[in-house]
Amino acid sequence: MVQKAAALLHAGKLVAFPTETVYGLGADATNPDAVNKIYAAKGRPANHPVIVHLKNEEQLTTWASNIPSTAWKLAKQFWPGPLTLILQRAPQVLDNITGGQNTIAVRVPGHPLAQELLHAFGGGIAAPSANRFGRISPTKAEHVREELGPLVDLILDGGDCTFGIESTIVDLSSEFPRILRPGTITASQINSVLSLHVQSPASKTQTPRTPGALLNHYAPTTPLHLIAPSKLRETIEMALDKKKSVAILTTPNLIFEESAVTWVPMPSEPDNYAHHLYAKLHELDHKGLDCIFVTTVPPTEDWLAISDRLSKATTKI
Ligand code: TXA
Ligand code: MG
Repeated sequence: MVQKAAALLHAGKLVAFPTETVYGLGADATNPDAVNKIYAAKGRPANHPVIVHLKNEEQLTTWASNIPSTAWKLAKQFWPGPLTLILQRAPQVLDNITGGQNTIAVRVPGHPLAQELLHAFGGGIAAPSANRFGRISPTKAEHVREELGPLVDLILDGGDCTFGIESTIVDLSSEFPRILRPGTITASQINSVLSLHVQSPASKTQTPRTPGALLNHYAPTTPLHLIAPSKLRETIEMALDKKKSVAILTTPNLIFEESAVTWVPMPSEPDNYAHHLYAKLHELDHKGLDCIFVTTVPPTEDWLAISDRLSKATTKI
């Protein structure tokens, strides 16, 4: 199956594949027509750059130039793994990979099937998350099948993604490293490897070229609202008064006796919570509910990537 997937990529086709974060929608990163098919399948605006996936850090020099020592340090520590680096592009990199910018996003994924595919293919695989633009990322092969099925030439099924939320993105393309998208690898972990203080994503410095930074990204189709735990009871009462059908995603300690709503207990620990989050949202999106309420998570660093995704999934009024 992996050999077939590699042959399809060489032929300019689209292959969805699992990574340890979410499923990616892959194409040969040196084939402009193939990369354009990704944009068409996702319904994504053409100037949004995509991540190039590599089999190992040695391939960095093919894709990036003026690679700083900070990049090699992070690569050594975290690759293969859920970390994306933004670097200055090498001259031959296609404009539809970089969105016409002078930077490129690269990552070496750790999922065994992604590694097998990258080794069989040999080159770089351009791959955004395998969902329609603005929707929740897929963490199971069936999510890809449902949303993009006929538009993808092959879906490699590698089971559930371990981490379940997208990689941490660190921009090393200018003098001051900064985090563009929080992920499982935290700012503290990056700081301790670099002996630096990287700018945190909470500081509103995100580039508009990162679609993850747009409002209402990663959203289910059912309206989703974030609720402080202290407001949960009154919010539920109001919704039931209005005869709304609602689900509540929350940790078990906040669940109470109220059988008119669908309770969705979530793990109390951030890694497990992230692993289940998108799958639960995909599942709830099929139930035809009026609304999904999610209780806010702790304001600590280990929950930052989750609170980032939750606030992006929130319905803006
Ligand atoms: O975990 C992940 O990163 C997954 C898996 C499949 O690797 N991929 C993923 O790709 O989340 P995507 O396209 O959904 O999100 C990548 C983000 C986008 O927000 C994109 O704008 C940003 O990376 N990005 C890509 N190239 C960039 C660049 N040169 N400068 C700034 N942001 C960039
Ligand atoms: Mg995405």
